[in-house]
Amino acid sequence: MGGKIKVALIGIGNCFAGLIQGIEYYKKNPSQQVTGIIHEKLSDYTIHDIDFVAGFDVGENKVGKSINEAIYEYPNMVNWIPKNEMPKTNAKVYESPILDGVGIWVENRVKPLKTHKTDAQLAQDAKKVIEDTGAQVIVSYLPVGSEKATQFWAEICLNTNTAFVNCIPSFIASDEAWAKRFEKNNIPVIGDDIKGQVGATIVHRTLARLCNDRGTKIEKTYQINVGGNTDFLNMKEQERLVSKRISKTESVQSQLDTRLDDDQIYVGPSDFIPFLGNTKLMFMRIEGRQWANMPYNMEVRLEVDDKANSAGIVVDAVRLAKIALDRKIGGSIIPASAYLMKHPLKQMSDPEAKIACERFVRGES
Ligand SMILES: NC(=O)c1ccc[n+]([C@@H]2O[C@H](COP(=O)([O-])OP(=O)(O)OC[C@H]3O[C@@H](n4cnc5c(N)ncnc54)[C@H](O)[C@@H]3O)[C@@H](O)[C@H]2O)c1
Repeated sequence: MGGKIKVALIGIGNCFAGLIQGIEYYKKNPSQQVTGIIHEKLSDYTIHDIDFVAGFDVGENKVGKSINEAIYEYPNMVNWIPKNEMPKTNAKVYESPILDGVGIWVENRVKPLKTHKTDAQLAQDAKKVIEDTGAQVIVSYLPVGSEKATQFWAEICLNTNTAFVNCIPSFIASDEAWAKRFEKNNIPVIGDDIKGQVGATIVHRTLARLCNDRGTKIEKTYQINVGGNTDFLNMKEQERLVSKRISKTESVQSQLDTRLDDDQIYVGPSDFIPFLGNTKLMFMRIEGRQWANMPYNMEVRLEVDDKANSAGIVVDAVRLAKIALDRKIGGSIIPASAYLMKHPLKQMSDPEAKIACERFVRGES
């Protein structure tokens, strides 16, 4: 169908700052090959068709500003394009209900707005913004552990016929009941929990599958991640991590013919090291047995900008959501979710998911 894809964003943090500054980077450097995305064109859509029409946040220094200003506000730390070189936009950041969005470790950094509005009033306001701006896709970049806030925005999608891209591990696209509601309303949902472009999950999944497919027996494995942004600071609160651990662990387990016992696999965000900023370090180890029961092991250390890692995937997720809207396909979009997300309704191997996703784009499934 083509045209612009109007997108509203929930959570104007580092991931969104990387997404919007990345698109601007390619605008400013048109001769530069677009590295960092899997598909330059998806159906009729390029990354330049993505138009951010509204944002929602709770930070007192972000609400009320234009989104192109808010992305530079503390505690965000993405500065790939100097602030004075970002074009002006009328798209504003509006108030979102806090619900369970702000954890104990980050509340003195995020500084939530002191609101006088009820959640019901904020829901009415949000619906009006979505309708007035004509947003077609809502992308959630809420902090890990925002179960209620995610459900709030999933309801807004259902009430406004807006597609949902859920980048975080609060289960909507992968939850049978929620997926059915999206299917009943014929609204697409892609999720849950972005699988970074060359992130810890895809590297661990790929190597685990390699060891599996080459006939070795994996006996134990771990994946430890550290970083220095608010995402990692927030994840110091163990109670917020339940679904993140499930999402990351199942993403690896799903690639093995025989599941590992729970005490033989550890996958998780593990600590906050302030000076790392948006750099994420991942340490992975696999131990197993080969022919004649001989032991082997491998270790990987990955160092990556975690925001570039997520944005390169979200530009595909947004365009796939719009393709589903154009074709009036609702419910959990399994090929896109299996390809781009850690915790889809149905897991596939990554090569299978890529083929399924490309068939979906060609309209063959
Ligand atoms: N590679 C990656 O970066 C990656 C991969 C997978 C998942 N994710 C997830 O994406 C999410 C966003 O990551 P980030 O680095 O941008 O985090 P961030 O902490 O920089 O940003 C979160 C934003 O959400 C806002 N917020 C808090 N409560 C809110 C509410 N109730 N309503 C609206 N906004 C609210 C905060 O003020 C902040 O601006 C995290 O859950 C992260 O785990 C990221």
